Amino acid sequence: MRIPFIAGNWKMYKTMAEAREFAAKFKTLYHGTDVKTAVFAPFPQLALLTKQFEGTGIGVGAQNVHFEKEGAFTGEVSVPMLKEIGVEYCLVGHSERRQYFGETDETVNLKIKALLAGDILPVVCVGENLQEREEGAEEKIVSGQIKAAFKDICHEDAVKITVAYEPVWAIGTGKTATPEQANQMCFCIRMTLKELYDEETADKIVIQYGGSVKPENASEIMNMEEIDGALVGGASLDPLKFIEIVNF
Ligand code: PGA
Repeated sequence: MRIPFIAGNWKMYKTMAEAREFAAKFKTLYHGTDVKTAVFAPFPQLALLTKQFEGTGIGVGAQNVHFEKEGAFTGEVSVPMLKEIGVEYCLVGHSERRQYFGETDETVNLKIKALLAGDILPVVCVGENLQEREEGAEEKIVSGQIKAAFKDICHEDAVKITVAYEPVWAIGTGKTATPEQANQMCFCIRMTLKELYDEETADKIVIQYGGSVKPENASEIMNMEEIDGALVGGASLDPLKFIEIVNF
């Protein structure tokens, strides 16, 4: 049985004061559900949020990490630094990191391994861009990203990873993949995982859809067979909208 997982990706939004205000409001709205919930915030806000959400069941995640434990890597943050402040999850390979910050399939794999070794749960993002979809290459691209991300990761560790399928053309554009398109791609991801591992392992891995998820379309997306959760950008900034999605 896969537990649904709805995560908010704040990207580079919210000051400390705004994060505090969100947490105070969201805590009053969240009454615990069967759905796992987490907020992926900018680095400076993480310690505040882990404190604010302590004991509530609301998880906290980072949006990026370096794969080395420490070193001369100016501007980077390591797994032990995140662990120390109670961070439970970390995004890896978000399309904005792949597009603007040189994230590659290779660094995605190294980061996933470092997170697993440091006991933080990775949420790995995959997805095709518009040109790739127009060329009909989406399944090839996404299964390639999955194979690279899970390279040399054992069965026991693989089930700790969440996959977020986010078609690049649907992120922040207001364009959502149709529930059928999203479901088909999540199915393709599960088949790739089955090929890499086995049916039992593939069946345990949680696969989210991301890209313009909002209160109005959340339940339709969440009701699709292969979709186990959502990675929500814009709509997760507003506690009222985010709670509606969590309570889909
Ligand atoms: P969006 O972002 O919901 O604003 O489209 C999703 C994401 O990038 O994770």
